[in-house]
Amino acid sequence: MQPYELIKAKRDGGRLEPADIRAFIEAYTAGTVADYQMAAMCMAIFFRGMDSRELGAWARAMLESGEVLDLSDTPGVKVDKHSTGGVGDKVSLSLAPLAAACGVPVPMISGRGLGHTGGTLDKLESIPGFNVNLPTSEYRRLVREVNCCLIGQTAQVAPADKKLYALRDVTATVDCIPLIASSIMSKKLAEGIDALVLDVKVGSGAFMKRDEDARTLAKTMIGLGAEMGKKVVALLTDMDQPLGRKVGNALEVIEAVDMLRGDAPEDYTEITYALTAEMLVLGKKAATIDEAREKLRKVVEDGSAVRKLKEIVQVQGGDPRAIDDYSLLPQAKATADVVAPRDGFVTGIDTEGVGLAAVALGAGRQRTDSKIDPAVGFTLLKKTGEPVKQGEPVVRVHYNDAAPLENVKARLLAAYQFGDAAPAARPLIRERVE
Ligand code: URA
Repeated sequence: MQPYELIKAKRDGGRLEPADIRAFIEAYTAGTVADYQMAAMCMAIFFRGMDSRELGAWARAMLESGEVLDLSDTPGVKVDKHSTGGVGDKVSLSLAPLAAACGVPVPMISGRGLGHTGGTLDKLESIPGFNVNLPTSEYRRLVREVNCCLIGQTAQVAPADKKLYALRDVTATVDCIPLIASSIMSKKLAEGIDALVLDVKVGSGAFMKRDEDARTLAKTMIGLGAEMGKKVVALLTDMDQPLGRKVGNALEVIEAVDMLRGDAPEDYTEITYALTAEMLVLGKKAATIDEAREKLRKVVEDGSAVRKLKEIVQVQGGDPRAIDDYSLLPQAKATADVVAPRDGFVTGIDTEGVGLAAVALGAGRQRTDSKIDPAVGFTLLKKTGEPVKQGEPVVRVHYNDAAPLENVKARLLAAYQFGDAAPAARPLIRERVE
């Protein structure tokens, strides 16, 4: 079938044949299916969904759009983690060196900011010199020699997702279970892993706002992993408020390094430990989650986790001195505070609203070709459940360009809810699925 006929068939609720799906994705990767045709197809999938046969074919075609890396020359069980995306989600920045310091080889192919969520690559690139565009031969060498390498999709690895991810970001087709599941699993299965831990975010700042959708997404990805012979474990974790207190690329690097030194907000530390502990068990470096957590505490205490991060930064061309001296990271020129309009408590945070405010400030992209400002972002001085006094700062905005400032402050104020009593605390880890 022609691209036009396939788009029309999906738009009208039809089922696509695996061979047609493969041809469509191959043609998109090669550039003969245009972006606007793929955008129309994604919107049709958004409304019509895909059954498991279509999804399996779509994910496999994306995976096989490029090279499937072979890391068999690295001994041990190679384990990665992937998040479905959130606000202030800097887990990968601390988890990768933690797991690598405990002896788990971590091959990690990450993404850029998507929609209202931040991206690991953008955060890493705020470290001066850090290169996420390494050739696959170098990636293989670093996983073998350093136990970790953090790169973006290359022209060789899952190129269909590289194009599609950027296209979905600007066509409102991100929050769609089959498209998220195939995007994540195609690049993860291409990177040479043996096992995978998924952080499926749920709440107002996640693509999945409801537990049942997050569970379906987790099960869909676990199913795709099983089809390809990989063990996948998922944690459903809270994204009803930003993770930690920093939002914005360089600011999040600082909070991640603080975590490796044992000095970071509790929610961020707890979720990172829970996910990394799963990696240690899958990677056979610990028999139980408790034993894994003990090992993690040890590599934080004895400094080997932060040393591992510096080593990763150094071998990927970055300046490791920035890990000790934060003034070497990009710095915003000015700050401005958003203040509480009343006495009381923060009763909730529309986290997607905070993410969109970060995009408006320049920390994320409004168009695929936008340049982000690595220095800008927010410090959340108050989070859900915390008491506030009228006029007290709740969010500090770190900015360079004053033009969007008033709009950003208004968005942040609108995202914060205030009331008379603190709401009941919700569990950080909602569920474990395997
Ligand atoms: N993360 C991805 O890699 N892809 C998506 O579609 C969403 C989150």
